[in-house]
Amino acid sequence: MEKDLFGIPNMDVYIVLSILAFFVIIEVVAGYLQTTKRKSSDWILELGGYLVLALLVKPGIVLAVLALGNVFSLPFQGALSANSLWLTLPLYLFIDDFLQYWYHRSAHEYPFLWKLHRPHHQAEEMGFFVSYRNAFVYYLIMPNLWWVGIFTFLGGAKAVAIGLILKQLIIISSHSTLPYDKFLYKYKFLDPFTKIYERIFITPAFHHAHHGKTKRDGISDPNGNFGNMFSLWDQLFGTASFKRAFPVEYGLENDPKEHWTATYLYPIVTSSDSTSEISRGYKKEDTRTLDAIEVELEKGKTYLYCQCGMSKNAPFCDSSHHGTKYKPLIFEAKRTGKARLCNCKSSKTGPFCDNSHINLKSLE
Ligand code: FES
Repeated sequence: MEKDLFGIPNMDVYIVLSILAFFVIIEVVAGYLQTTKRKSSDWILELGGYLVLALLVKPGIVLAVLALGNVFSLPFQGALSANSLWLTLPLYLFIDDFLQYWYHRSAHEYPFLWKLHRPHHQAEEMGFFVSYRNAFVYYLIMPNLWWVGIFTFLGGAKAVAIGLILKQLIIISSHSTLPYDKFLYKYKFLDPFTKIYERIFITPAFHHAHHGKTKRDGISDPNGNFGNMFSLWDQLFGTASFKRAFPVEYGLENDPKEHWTATYLYPIVTSSDSTSEISRGYKKEDTRTLDAIEVELEKGKTYLYCQCGMSKNAPFCDSSHHGTKYKPLIFEAKRTGKARLCNCKSSKTGPFCDNSHINLKSLE
């Protein structure tokens, strides 16, 4: 299978490593190592996670797919090898990015996948290596890695090699602490270009917003901006938010910060902290009640109202909705004073109680 770029064996690997090295160097030169608050557990997760992924998981999956294809003499082996890169490269990338969008989105909407993806969002700082901060099992079942194997089996190894380089360039730069896109937002005359660019590719601002701690800052959208390389899927499936600004705080609210072994090796290793959602037998509580909750609101202030019914800070969101399809509702108080907010989650008037709970016999 012809996969060498420019006739040099493993050229794709060298290019990916060079991209990483490039971001390492510019972040180090910019003083990142002096200012970072990362602990040793963060470095283990990010650096260790990257090495295991690059040296073990990715090659292991590709070899497993190729071996399975040969052992079972599966049809279509090398079927794409006669096709031009102009066809195979877009084909590889678009299917890859579509798979990644849905895998990533599912990792925010389903509890088991969320627990595997959660380490990625526990990072309180951005940086090139945050890209690789997920649980081991997250990568093992990642459809994209299997797609790399399948596409290679079909004879598209060269497209995979180039595609991975392009992907890494977008992914690593969108996680970097030195976002290249800031200057695009600074100069008005660049606006027409920026508009087109951000509607095609994932920019650092777009992805940083996904890592922001809370929607309350008006920039972050932890329940949106799931795209990896292209912003097309977010626009198509209604999860895109273009704020062209960067969150002040990154990470998870109320994060119990488990030991890295549980974070990385869940579900093989679980947390001993019973308040952690990766502890054995952990269940989120139903905190809905058949009554409204009276709160004091302040005119002009924004609040996040809990819609999942699991917040321990009801009726406000405490981020317990992660790993479900629910999102908090953001609203601005129109006046200062007491308000009755719905806590049965059946009100038709947004966060405010409309007495729907009176007609409910129980909270099903
Ligand atoms: S805790 Fe955020 S929506 Fe319920």
